[in-house]
Amino acid sequence: MPEFLPFTRPTIDEATIAGVADVLRSGWLTSGPQVKAFEAALSGYCGGRPVRCFNSGTATLAVALRLAGIGPGDEVITSPLSWVATANVVLEVGARPVFVDVEPRTRNIDLDAVEKAVTRATRAIIPVDLAGLPVDRDRLYDIARRHELRVIEDAAQSLGASWRGKRLGTFGDFVSFSFHANKNITTAEGGALVLPDESLVARCEQLRLQGVIRTGEDGMDVEVAGGKYNLTDVAARIGLGQLPQLERFTERRRALVRRYFQRWDRGLGCELPPEDYEQSNWHMFQVTLPERVERSRFIASMRDQGIGVGVHYPAMHLFQLYRRLGWREGQFPHAERIGRSIATLPLFPAMRDSDVDRVCEAARKVLG
Ligand SMILES: Cc1ncc(COP(=O)(O)O)c(C=O)c1O
Repeated sequence: MPEFLPFTRPTIDEATIAGVADVLRSGWLTSGPQVKAFEAALSGYCGGRPVRCFNSGTATLAVALRLAGIGPGDEVITSPLSWVATANVVLEVGARPVFVDVEPRTRNIDLDAVEKAVTRATRAIIPVDLAGLPVDRDRLYDIARRHELRVIEDAAQSLGASWRGKRLGTFGDFVSFSFHANKNITTAEGGALVLPDESLVARCEQLRLQGVIRTGEDGMDVEVAGGKYNLTDVAARIGLGQLPQLERFTERRRALVRRYFQRWDRGLGCELPPEDYEQSNWHMFQVTLPERVERSRFIASMRDQGIGVGVHYPAMHLFQLYRRLGWREGQFPHAERIGRSIATLPLFPAMRDSDVDRVCEAARKVLG
């Protein structure tokens, strides 16, 4: 039996491991010079826009909503086909998440449906670039402008992706990235928030750490109840080792995906993602299984062949929490069907071409 192939695995080089050891020996573990350096590097990547780091890509979304002034009585439109963090943060700030269906081809939020869902209470849109495939930013920002809505881009999965030649993060309103271990670059856990302008930096830093404002040698005040969301220097050092490799990682992911498209048996009846080698960062390679196939059995059979398969994600409006808020089955047929049948196949930079062949062969055996 060949070695088990997980659906993802981070690539951490020895220089980064040595750098983390140096931080551990330095006597300064939590937020300090490494976080500042990582923020500067990320800001450089994002065309000089202000960037602040957090301990998760959930905290970044929640703080962005607070910075945008969103709270009780407000509605925020988002996709039901995402990690549940995307909607949980809306509840966390006391607002109401409003789900709309996805486009079956891209699996991203349907922008026609967004436009129809705007009410007088709508204050923001949270688009999600599922698997790293960017939502149409031209249409998105056109809708936002016409309805005077804020945009909090949930780009948790799409660092390294671009829209019409422009890197995500270099333009737009708030842009939120995650560095969770499965993401294209990682800090183990962590996130970064790109701010629309410098004037928000001070408030952002307050919301990140207990609302604390420091002045002079010993002055301290608090005017808002912030969270405990700061990134550690240990984590930031991992990120500093990862960021310079992002482009190479993305290239490798694209090459592996090209092979998936070459080797995948179209006769199996799965829906493949759009074949995009320009804009997507290929955070995941996901197929939607035919309705006749029970996903749990597919996952178990693939595991028996030494291959890991992930589920990203069940449609979240069907979770108990959201059903209690009035959402129900049948409202979003595309998200519901995809959420039942989507399967994430192995894709990570250290994978070999022959691993792709192995996955395709195993899928043919299981589904054929
Ligand atoms: C689409 C999406 N949104 C938000 C998050 C939250 O990020 P984190 O896990 O860093 O809190 C994730 C990551 O898991 C994600 O994939």
